[in-house]
This record gives sequence, structure tokens and C-alpha cells, in this order.
Amino acid sequence: MSSVSDHYSQLLAPVYTWMAGSVEAALDAGKSEIDALQLKLPAGALVADLGAGFGMHAIPLARDGMRVLAVDSSTELLTELDRLADGLAVETIADDLLSFRTHVKEKLAAVFCMGDTLTHLPEHTHVDFLVQEVHETLAPGGHFVLTFRDYSEPLIGDARFIPVRSDERRILTCFLEYEEDTVVVHDILHERAGDAWETRVSSYRKLRLSPERVVASLETIGFETRMQPGLRGLVRIIGTVP
Ligand SMILES: C[S@@+](CC[C@H](N)C(=O)[O-])C[C@H]1O[C@@H](n2cnc3c(N)ncnc32)[C@H](O)[C@@H]1O
Repeated sequence: MSSVSDHYSQLLAPVYTWMAGSVEAALDAGKSEIDALQLKLPAGALVADLGAGFGMHAIPLARDGMRVLAVDSSTELLTELDRLADGLAVETIADDLLSFRTHVKEKLAAVFCMGDTLTHLPEHTHVDFLVQEVHETLAPGGHFVLTFRDYSEPLIGDARFIPVRSDERRILTCFLEYEEDTVVVHDILHERAGDAWETRVSSYRKLRLSPERVVASLETIGFETRMQPGLRGLVRIIGTVP
């Protein structure tokens, strides 16, 4: 079993933009998702993208005039984000997202934790901790936007084998092994090497978060919440500071 950061550096980060399809298509999807939120953030507002990856949301936010703090533990993905964000107001920060507050010097207009990043946290209590930290960092009227996969109902049998992406050079397949509070994600990567295929496998744990639990965590701290369907079957929850 790998840690999340080892899993990304050893297997996922080098193929992450391939996995997402094309970078421009991913940035377009990120922009559509931001637009659909209708947050009406003022130009120049400071926002944070926690687990920003290569910038699927950070870059559209910056293109819309936001100043973006992009936090991620993967230096490989942040290097790609820096390249894509050339000339935009994006500050990349290589750190654990649970420590994001140490990098925030003024109140934030919004915090984003998108694309199933939330389930990468090691413990359920870390979700509650993060919700509290975000609440204390947001300005009045600020938003905390989360999208994640609902793993609370286990997939059974063959449904646990998920074809992620394939082309003539690579095949990425995911196998899910359910535990009580967590799910072990086994990523199986086949890559063409001359006339043969090379196979690498790496596994890490994700949290089995239910949307109801996340909503309860947000409302306990004082957020008003809305829940909607997100992209690719993810759940989207928007918490707003009254
Ligand atoms: C599934 S990707 C989502 C990336 C991006 N938000 C998107 O929607 O494309 C999860 C990201 O979270 C990062 N990550 C996971 N756990 C983290 C942690 N504890 N601190 C910082 N980054 C983390 C990973 O490196 C990865 O870039």
C-alpha cells in the first residue's frame, strides 16, 4: 500500500493529464463547472484550490480574474500547473492541504476542493478539521465548494473493475476493494514498451464519505449548504458562510 503522495509520484502524476483526456478539454470542463456554480466572485478576490492537481479549476478561476492559492502535495502536478498558469495570478504551494491555513494571509472569498480530493484525506476526522479550518478562513458570504465520489454504497463483483482510459499506448484500470470506512484503490497501468506491455500496480486508500456526512459536518460548523450532481458522477456540495 502506498501513501497518497507516493501513489501520485510513482504512478498517477506522470499520466494524470493523459488520464484527463486533453488538458484544454479538462480546463474547459473546469471552467463550465465554475460557471455553473454562479458564485459571483468579484475580480481580484483571493480563493484557494485545495488538491489543485494540474489546475483544472485553478486556471479557469485565474483566467476569470481571481488570485488563486493552489495547494497540492504533488510537486509533479504543481510543475505542470505552473507551466499552464504562466502569466496568471496563481501561487502554487507544495504542502498538505490540511495545512493550507498557514499560507493564507487574508480572508478568502472561496475555497475549492474538487475532483474527489476530499476522499484522499486519511481519516474522517480530517474532513471535520478541514471544514472548521475553511470556515475560519472564509470571509462572510464566502463559499466552500467540494466535489467527491460517494463510495458509501459498495460496488459489487465485476462492477469493482473500472476502465479509466485506454489508447494504443496505455491502459489504466482501477479495482476497488471495500473496507469498513475506507476503500482501497488499486490502479493498474499497462504501458506499451516496444512490442510488449509493461504493467505497474499501485494502491492507496480513500475515505468512504457519504454526502450526508459531509453536509452534516458543514452545517454543524455553521455553513448553509446546497447539494447538486457534479461532473462524471461526482457529488457537488456548496457550503456558504451566512
Ligand atoms: C483526484 S486529484 C484532483 C485534482 C484536481 N482538483 C482536479 O479536479 O482535477 C486529487 C489531487 O489531490 C492531491 N492531494 C491528495 N491528498 C492531498 C493532501 N493531503 N494534501 C495536498 N494535496 C493532496 C493529489 O496530489 C491530487 O493532485
